[in-house]
Amino acid sequence: MLMRLQNNLLLSKVFLGCHANGFSSLISGSKILRGFNETAGFSAVSGDNLRSQSKSSLRNYQVVVAATREMGIGKDGKLPWRLPSDLKFFKELTVTTSDPEKKNAVVMGRKTWESIPLENRPLPGRLNVILTRSQSPDITTGENVVIRGSIPSTLELLAEVPYCFSIERVFVIGGGQIFRETLHAPGCEAIHITEIETNFECDTFIPSIELSCFQPWYSSTPLVENDVRFSFATYVRVRSGAPGCPLNIEGKCNGSLNHNIFEVKDFTFLPRMILERHDEFISK
Ligand SMILES: NC(=O)c1ccc[n+]([C@@H]2O[C@H](COP(=O)([O-])OP(=O)(O)OC[C@H]3O[C@@H](n4cnc5c(N)ncnc54)[C@H](OP(=O)(O)O)[C@@H]3O)[C@@H](O)[C@H]2O)c1
Repeated sequence: MLMRLQNNLLLSKVFLGCHANGFSSLISGSKILRGFNETAGFSAVSGDNLRSQSKSSLRNYQVVVAATREMGIGKDGKLPWRLPSDLKFFKELTVTTSDPEKKNAVVMGRKTWESIPLENRPLPGRLNVILTRSQSPDITTGENVVIRGSIPSTLELLAEVPYCFSIERVFVIGGGQIFRETLHAPGCEAIHITEIETNFECDTFIPSIELSCFQPWYSSTPLVENDVRFSFATYVRVRSGAPGCPLNIEGKCNGSLNHNIFEVKDFTFLPRMILERHDEFISK
């Protein structure tokens, strides 16, 4: 299902252009991308609700989601499927760090937090950031739990000391309201999606992945568990979602806004377990 899209061409040599109203610190190449993992993110003015945020230092993040073909993700406040191997993948992806001194953060909406069984929350080994607009949320705080009132303020906090040093990666883990605001915003550098091929009735949906901004990095062979057919895939951002900066066939930014074109030579912001799967994918 995934287009291998000129993988060799585009993913190994992608040109991104800086857009006039944002991405002003997306500078050049692997050094900067590596820097994102180790410290803070970049200056961005993002889309949708993030668009109202004036230019400030915001942390990059990666989305982790499981969705049906219709992009259904939930039903009655719960996951519609039971897939232990997906939970195992989710745990491995979000817990693992390359630096043992650091942790990752998982950012979620209040309803997703409440959908996690009491005995399993906060999700261990990760900084749990819960988004709520309530002034006096009914959430027990404690070690590894942070409550924030907006997505920009969360990404700002995670870009500041001490989190810029102690948090290796930021994963946005749901639910629908949070995905709708974050999926296509410029700070989203990758989407790890479990593609559920079996039909499930859902009441919570997210938008389809914008293939003009994200391209497949890898896709696993389909698996079957509890009669559910699914596969794991990762998409990486190859350009800003902002209008006015189209790429030509070689991935070069066209038009008058391309004065800050840069070449991304690698995608080392990806967790190693994902980064290494690309070679396997393109040689299939
Ligand atoms: N398939 C998957 O990968 C996956 C992953 C996670 C969740 N889910 C499913 O998704 C469903 C839950 O999603 P949902 O859309 O109903 O709820 P949600 O996104 O988890 O949480 C919504 C709540 O988050 C807070 N919120 C939303 N936007 C905010 C913002 N910009 N700033 C601050 N706070 C904000 C609000 O809390 P207050 O009302 O407290 O203000 C809002 O009611 C469940 O069925 C769950 O199982 C699926």
